[in-house]
Amino acid sequence: MNPCYEKLCRCYESVRSRVDFVPEVALVLGSGLGGFADELEVAATVDYKDIEDFPVSTAPGHAGRFVFGYLDKTPVVVMQGRVHYYEGYDITDVVLPIRLMQRLGARTLVLTNAAGGIRQGFSAGDLMLITGQIATFVPSPLRGENIPELGPRFPDMSHVYDEDLQDLARRCACGLGLRLREGVYIQLPGPNYETPQEIHMCRMLGADAVGMSTACEAVAANHMGMKIVGISCISNLAAGISPHPLSEEEVIEAGKAVARDFTALVKAIIAGIHETGEKE
Ligand code: HPA
Repeated sequence: MNPCYEKLCRCYESVRSRVDFVPEVALVLGSGLGGFADELEVAATVDYKDIEDFPVSTAPGHAGRFVFGYLDKTPVVVMQGRVHYYEGYDITDVVLPIRLMQRLGARTLVLTNAAGGIRQGFSAGDLMLITGQIATFVPSPLRGENIPELGPRFPDMSHVYDEDLQDLARRCACGLGLRLREGVYIQLPGPNYETPQEIHMCRMLGADAVGMSTACEAVAANHMGMKIVGISCISNLAAGISPHPLSEEEVIEAGKAVARDFTALVKAIIAGIHETGEKE
């Protein structure tokens, strides 16, 4: 059997031996946005370090765990802390948690992140609906022998972010009176922030926001046929646009500052996903 698939199966068994919760929606919380998990009526938590073979974050203070529970009526699994490529993992390990959440039952994936704003007019504190992505600067998580149990060898990537879910996100933002920016997210490998020249390149390529996560996760999720919606929290203006040097503290603080709007929007989106699922 494919070693990546074997590992996924071992992780699945390890989680299933602890919890029998079946989530409908999977949610990944980006830097500074982990507080969202407080909104859940928690059914169970599983620390990443307790899952056999699971890639545990090497960054101090980023232990990470899955939180299983209900957001109103919707059964969800939330990743409090994700695995990043810059931590040194193989890209297949970076997306293992996404694959695991799908195996546990989640058919829809809500991806969130902190990102640097590239597009003119964006400000720190903006929320951006991800309408498309550029993942070319990190290896494909589908590299290596295909896992046919998950999806095809050459999956189509024309609509990574589900059009209906984008419309849902727009309606939710409108209903809440929130301004929701829109744009293309580009993933760079990190961990260093970009040079102003690299940001210039990103802008020329059509990117509106830059970060170090998300796009590879969306590739793996799309491979498995998950429906995906993505929200970036613009935590800072990207290098060369921002008048001062970038820091992790700035990113975390910005996350806290938009936490209320972010929470309201993501809650509304997940409620909408659940309602749509009930009608189908
Ligand atoms: N660049 C890359 N990743 C980021 C940034 C940035 O400016 N802000 C938050 N994550």
